[in-house]
Amino acid sequence: MAACRLATSVVFCAAFAAARFMNLNEDYQAEVDIIGSGENTSILLLLTVNTKGYVGFGFGPNPNMTGADLFIGGVNNSMLYGKDYHGIGNTAPEEDCDTCQDWEVVTGVESDSGTSLVIQRLVNTLDTDGDIEIQNSTTYVLWSYGEFDIINHHRRRGFRELNLFTVDDPRPGSSTPNPN
Ligand code: HEM
Repeated sequence: MAACRLATSVVFCAAFAAARFMNLNEDYQAEVDIIGSGENTSILLLLTVNTKGYVGFGFGPNPNMTGADLFIGGVNNSMLYGKDYHGIGNTAPEEDCDTCQDWEVVTGVESDSGTSLVIQRLVNTLDTDGDIEIQNSTTYVLWSYGEFDIINHHRRRGFRELNLFTVDDPRPGSSTPNPN
């Protein structure tokens, strides 16, 4: 598993043994799992990004920042950080209120090959401060990363239209050569 090779913690591999792969960019790969049931259904993500700066992940009804439900986090001086944000336009996203912080940074590591973060939240947080329910349907997934841990702009960013409940891209290097 590509993400397991990058990540140094065995926890990453154990948690994501059955996860689906999501190829967002050559610099930004992710694995996704939907776990639990009913109101306790959660999304678990392993973000593996070619940066030592911040990592942004988001989703929403549009392929841009306005109205997007965003997470920004990373590893700075060996300390994990991460917060819930929402996009208000082509400007710095706003932090969700203190009682509306729904992403948990489960674990993470930064090395010379980049940053790997495991994050988790309920698919339906019921928060009205910028959160969107993650549904079994197509959405815009937004990704970004910064060169540093200063959250002032992105170094690269983009989006893909996909279903977080079903996306299952081929893993890099997994294609078998055609025997003919
Ligand atoms: C302080 C943080 C941020 C600032 C100041 C910022 C600012 C901007 C600006 C000015 C643009 C317009 C084009 C450009 O300059 O690239 C833009 C576009 C974009 N941003 Fe951000 N952004 C921030 C964080 C994020 C985060 C966390 C994400 C995703 C997780 C994100 C995703 C995007 C995407 C996908 C676009 C392209 C939208 C389009 O094509 O219309 N941004 N951002």
